[in-house]
Amino acid sequence: MGFAHCKEPDQRISSLVKLDLKTQILPANEAAIAEAADCLADGGLIGFPTETVYGLGADATNAKAVARLYQAKGRPAFNPLIAHVTDIASARALACFDRLAEALAQAFWPGPLTLVLPKTTECPVADLATAGLDTVAIRVPAHPVARGILHAFGRPVVAPSANLSGHVSPTTAAHVESDLAGRIDLIVDGGAVTVGVESTIIGCFEAPVLLRPGGLPREAIERVIGHGLVRGPEPTAGGTGAPLAPGMLTSHYAPRASVRLNAEHVEADEALLAFGAAGISGMAASRAVMNLSPSGDLTEAAANLFGYLRALDQTDARGIAVMPVPHHGLGEAINDRLRRAAVGRE
Ligand code: TXA
Ligand code: MG
Repeated sequence: MGFAHCKEPDQRISSLVKLDLKTQILPANEAAIAEAADCLADGGLIGFPTETVYGLGADATNAKAVARLYQAKGRPAFNPLIAHVTDIASARALACFDRLAEALAQAFWPGPLTLVLPKTTECPVADLATAGLDTVAIRVPAHPVARGILHAFGRPVVAPSANLSGHVSPTTAAHVESDLAGRIDLIVDGGAVTVGVESTIIGCFEAPVLLRPGGLPREAIERVIGHGLVRGPEPTAGGTGAPLAPGMLTSHYAPRASVRLNAEHVEADEALLAFGAAGISGMAASRAVMNLSPSGDLTEAAANLFGYLRALDQTDARGIAVMPVPHHGLGEAINDRLRRAAVGRE
């Protein structure tokens, strides 16, 4: 088989510390929400739906739970986490809001926006979760199950995407299970997420900086701040100095098959990730075709992106050819994730 490299064992997985937890999977309802809150209070780890992607939650104030989270995910501890809270009032206990941060929070919370802000002196988030920085990333999610768990628990919850470090983010409970079964305590299944890409991250420094394009389009943010948004410096895995969003390593969303962008033709041994109504040459003979949005709707494309990448990665295709996706609105986040997927593993 010429494409055996697609089926090689994933080295990132084999280098993980072995954990043998019994992972409970519960459909999202009142009882599951109560169970999830109890689990967090006991220092446990839960997979739960947010509107962007599934999160892997731990008690943000419990350093031991946060350490378990880094281990379960195989994530380097220099990469800080987002603290999730129910509302702006709870966020103010963690971070100092200036006028700009206040305006953004008022406009977009709850929703797919994360703000990086200076910590308050009494910020209860464990230093391990903020990687020793004097800033903290905060988000107020809109998903009813995430909100239910945060309300029931009553403290901030740190939650990276619920995938193994470097893998594609999960948009269903089944994705969480395939990456993290045996490594976490509980998964609350709230169905497929609606947004499909992670939150947009804004650094509220002297001037606001776009640290990660995501589920809230930059155009919406620019309307509130009244001017164009500068993109933060692009961090690299081997770069010097602390990147502004240290998690934005180039090869962050790598599937196992190689990913080829802006395809105008697809080879017979490739799978095609299509966009829009028009086809491209070679399509009929390719291994598999999935269309992010036949009607060219970027919201629909974002919601399908990670699930389709995972599905095409499970075919025997040598690589995944991706048709061009427009760069406006949610297209900026979609293209960002596709570019990282194309860089491949390191
Ligand atoms: O939509 C989301 O944001 C999802 C859901 C679960 O809420 N979470 C998520 O978390 O995407 P994660 O850990 O995969 O990405 C968090 C990003 C990383 O790139 C991290 O480096 C950055 O936020 N970050 C966290 N704290 C930071 C800080 N103080 N300064 C700069 N970047 C920070
Ligand atoms: Mg992630």
